[in-house]
Amino acid sequence: MLSNKRILLIVAGGIAAYKTLELIRRLRERGASVRCILTRGGAQFVTPLSLAALSGDRVYDDLFSLTDEAAMGHIELSRDADLLVVAPATADLLAKMATGLADDLATTALLASDKPVLVAPSMNVRMWEHAATRANIETLAARGVLRVGPGAGDMACGEFGEGRMAEPDEILGAIEAVFRGDAPAVTPSGGAPARNRPLEGRKALVTSGPTHEAIDPVRYIANRSSGKQGHAIARALADLGARTTLVSGPTALADPAGISVIHVESAAEMLAACQQSLPVDVAVCAAAVSDWRTAEEAGQKMKKDGGGPPALALIENPDILRTLGEAGNLRPGLLIGFAAETEKIVEHAKVKLERKGADWILANDVSPATGTFGGDANVIHLIDGDGVEDWPRMSKEEVARRLVERIAENFVAKA
Ligand code: C5P
Repeated sequence: MLSNKRILLIVAGGIAAYKTLELIRRLRERGASVRCILTRGGAQFVTPLSLAALSGDRVYDDLFSLTDEAAMGHIELSRDADLLVVAPATADLLAKMATGLADDLATTALLASDKPVLVAPSMNVRMWEHAATRANIETLAARGVLRVGPGAGDMACGEFGEGRMAEPDEILGAIEAVFRGDAPAVTPSGGAPARNRPLEGRKALVTSGPTHEAIDPVRYIANRSSGKQGHAIARALADLGARTTLVSGPTALADPAGISVIHVESAAEMLAACQQSLPVDVAVCAAAVSDWRTAEEAGQKMKKDGGGPPALALIENPDILRTLGEAGNLRPGLLIGFAAETEKIVEHAKVKLERKGADWILANDVSPATGTFGGDANVIHLIDGDGVEDWPRMSKEEVARRLVERIAENFVAKA
């Protein structure tokens, strides 16, 4: 299919440039010849030596090189090819292509070309979603520039979303389609299916984990919350496109990618972090906040002095859920709490819904027999103003996904 086809491959400066090395290998295996132009940015990610070794040709990178101009100038470089492939195509290079800038060898060859051009965009999700990039992509599409990807997934920058360069096989498939004459204007990147992101543009806040209330510099009051449920909810919100802040008490869990995480110890710190994060469209209070803290934290480690155990005076902690419910015009648009109960689960949760001014309460049975605390499964009853919805036993991940879908439906219904 690709034998004797001549590909001019332009490698721009993106972390995905490493995938381009594999693309060259696959193209050559299929009989294509590959000539590479490496931009200055591209050379930060792959070396001319790797490209030259894989392509079996020298690498072109200098617009004003006398020897290159003699051997093969930018006009010949683009004319000599059957197809120009830009991989990775960065936001910057796409902008230059859309504007018609020609300030280096890559952009000059692209402007001088009368051959089909296929781009494989690669950038951070926010750059991909930026109005400027959207406009550039539309301009290029209107001019017949073909595109493969990008796909959605975890990004090198730690965020999640669309912007990952298509995989080498996908780019190869798009190249073959060009030569078959049936390439669509955009070949979707199927590495991770383009996802429905109904919470795009929404802001979310999640509390998770236990709190630690200091008794003295070495001791504290805590509980058995693992943070698994709250962290899963934060991930699920971000997966559906919400800009998510996770306020987490001390847990053994890694920070989820693509989420802004604020680490706190005590209930007072958790409350302050939540208040700083307002306004939000939705808040989910999944933290197991300690109800009490010591009236006074001892400045030094408390000692056994033979006088018997010390009396610990406790005072009540602020109720974060209720405080958010009373935040006036900063009240989250949708406020959701949990009710961990060991008996009369729904009955107690209904009281909690009222008392805390929440919109929904997810009641779960945490009696020791259920293994919910620290475990991976949860049995939920969702209580709202209309009644009770009983969910089957499911994993905490599934609870998170179902809850977040329910949140998205709620916003659609209100829109
Ligand atoms: O009163 P109870 O602790 O059972 O309430 C549970 C709900 O209230 C959970 O959503 C929990 O995150 C929230 N909560 C809170 N601040 C507290 C106590 C509970 O946000 N101090």
